[in-house]
Amino acid sequence: MKYNFDKIIDRKNTNSLKYDFPAEQGYPPDCLPLWVADMDFQTPPEVRKVLEKSARHGIFGYTSPKKDYFDAVQSWFLKRFGFKSKSEWIVTAPGIVFSIATAIKAFTSAKNSVLIQTPVYYPFHSCVKINNRKLVKNSLVFRNGKYIIDFKDFEKKIIDNKVKLFLLCSPHNPVGRVWTKNELIKMGKICLKHNVIVVSDEIHCDFIFKGNKHTVFGTLGEKFLNNSIICTAPSKTFNLAGLQVSNIFIADKEKRRKFELEIQKTGYSQLNTMGIASCQNAYENGVRWVDELNEYLQNNLEYIRTFIKENIPKIKLIEPEGTYLLWLDFDGLQITENKLKRLVAQEAKLHLSYGKGFGIEGKGFFRVNAACPLSTIKKAFNRLKNAVNSFS
Ligand SMILES: Cc1ncc(COP(=O)(O)O)c(C=O)c1O
Repeated sequence: MKYNFDKIIDRKNTNSLKYDFPAEQGYPPDCLPLWVADMDFQTPPEVRKVLEKSARHGIFGYTSPKKDYFDAVQSWFLKRFGFKSKSEWIVTAPGIVFSIATAIKAFTSAKNSVLIQTPVYYPFHSCVKINNRKLVKNSLVFRNGKYIIDFKDFEKKIIDNKVKLFLLCSPHNPVGRVWTKNELIKMGKICLKHNVIVVSDEIHCDFIFKGNKHTVFGTLGEKFLNNSIICTAPSKTFNLAGLQVSNIFIADKEKRRKFELEIQKTGYSQLNTMGIASCQNAYENGVRWVDELNEYLQNNLEYIRTFIKENIPKIKLIEPEGTYLLWLDFDGLQITENKLKRLVAQEAKLHLSYGKGFGIEGKGFFRVNAACPLSTIKKAFNRLKNAVNSFS
């Protein structure tokens, strides 16, 4: 490997959301945080170089992306996913959650229904509710250790609630599914049939475990493309979330106009200087880094799978297909919710994301962020093992 993902970087006292607020979040000061979805790896050295150059230049005036920026974004999605696009489709925005909220406001009105597939990333719920839209849930079905879609329920919920917008999480956070082409086509066709616009959040698309393949929603065909808002960002892929850049592909001119108008209403205009530089450089030079990172994460996953089986078999790993987030089922411990939360936070001293935050279906589950050096993973899972063993 060219890159070193084993290196431990001290993130404390950097205003890190993950590391610097345990007291405010109700966790002991020495807890190990594997919750919020950013990584404990430095962004690629190539990207750091460009950021250092920008810092040395020392002027941080208004900036706007040029042709090279759009070329880099388009080329990444073409080479990795076969997604052919035009530069004018890309709308830049400060984030995906911002863009989901923007789409909700642009394409629905108060009290209109928006569909999500639960359990799902919590802002999918909150963006709908805070904008006074009706939240409609198509629960994913947990069968034989895998989450699948109940398509009948999916269509029924759309019809019964006159759904206008569907927020698709692809790959899915937290259950780790990488939707197959068939599944996407099936959902896409139902949405087309009932005039439901698809907002496809593909922020995790670059984290795919062996044997799986991510399909960009826009590659399914012209009709699907024109009925979708495809949300991408370099933030998860290259650990750049704090630089706040996302690229939203909207092929349909009228949808793009509405989306851009809604952005204008917020008063937001340009991306930040370092965000532009890092996004372009990452997409231009980050291929090898991402490939090696995926290998590293695959190894973390394999370690965790074996460790759990051998040491804490009452906890079940839901086999992920993508993302660096692992979904663990603690039901086998057979303890109350309060005791379970205490066990993890106070005895194992781990800050994980409790499953219910993603929907009621997540009761008894925790989401674990595995994007950290293997030594951190080892420490965390040993803590969990000791806590579970001393508990039972
Ligand atoms: C599915 C999904 N969408 C969006 C985001 C956040 O994106 P942004 O920081 O660009 O708002 C996350 C972060 O965890 C995520 O998991």
